[in-house]
Amino acid sequence: MVEILTKPMNKHRKGILLAGGSGSRLYPLTVHTSKQLMPVYDKPLVYYPLSVLMLAGLKEILLISTPKDLPSYQKLLGDGSTWGLSIEYAEQPSPDGLAQALVIAEDFLAGHPSCLILGDNIFYGHAFTSSLQQANLNEEGATIFGYHVSNPSAYGVVEFSSDGKVVGLVEKPAQPASEYAVPGLYFYDERAPAFAQTLSPSPRGELEITDLNRCYLTEGSLRVELIGRGTAWLDTGTHDSLLDAGNFIQLVEKRQGLKIACLEEIALGKGWIDKNQLSQHVSSLGQSSYRHYLENLLQSPAHFLNQSPS
Ligand code: TTP
Repeated sequence: MVEILTKPMNKHRKGILLAGGSGSRLYPLTVHTSKQLMPVYDKPLVYYPLSVLMLAGLKEILLISTPKDLPSYQKLLGDGSTWGLSIEYAEQPSPDGLAQALVIAEDFLAGHPSCLILGDNIFYGHAFTSSLQQANLNEEGATIFGYHVSNPSAYGVVEFSSDGKVVGLVEKPAQPASEYAVPGLYFYDERAPAFAQTLSPSPRGELEITDLNRCYLTEGSLRVELIGRGTAWLDTGTHDSLLDAGNFIQLVEKRQGLKIACLEEIALGKGWIDKNQLSQHVSSLGQSSYRHYLENLLQSPAHFLNQSPS
């Protein structure tokens, strides 16, 4: 019997980036590489969820992936110091479900609260950063999000009572009780690994994140924050959605002249790296539009950072 503490400890939150899976819907793209290393316009997919953890203010991150793909992530992101982060790595031997991330991360978390993000989720929009920072402040229980979608049956879905209270969470329901899907972004208190240890695999053989969230719902400590239509939550699991996401990022970046999920820009804005560190990093890069963007950032950081997401 796992003892689950009821009193939260006042420790800073750590990030978990889950970037494994089989990516079978993207075959043959994913035969030799991981889905989250696929390009989304001008950067690898994994940059987008990593930027979300950074915007939430998290600097200590565990990236979980398959034994085959982990070396590629280590090559891409290293120890994270380029962005003032500390990135550690752990294997998920087989894709046995999202909630397994909390079991794998137990030693890394060492009693700290966590934020889990799925490596194939992209968020972009007005006031999203303040929602993240707000969620990070909640010390007790869990915070998940609800997002209005046209195809809720593909996701975990939130069920509301007539007075708007959350009364249920159902994984991929045939008859969804609402149009609100739960995106792959979850804030947990320090008890999440212990809760995850108590879960049994579902009929499809996975430790379900919906079951973990239900542990918090049952004890009355689950918050569901609705993300408004002014924020885009993009899926990248199929050929069409991956291309759509790339086109969306290209359109917004070209129109605004500002990059989405530029890790260096976020790190500089937060004071996690200084201009000298950024300059050294830039000089190691090949000539690309990404490098030119960073050179402009170095020349007039105030101009860019004034445009940072709210
Ligand atoms: P999914 O899209 O559910 O699965 P997948 O990436 O394996 O793709 P497909 O359905 O095409 O086979 O996964 C959502 C995210 O979670 C994605 O970023 C991969 C990651 N994931 C893991 O890292 N480990 C797991 O055990 C599972 C189920 C998913």
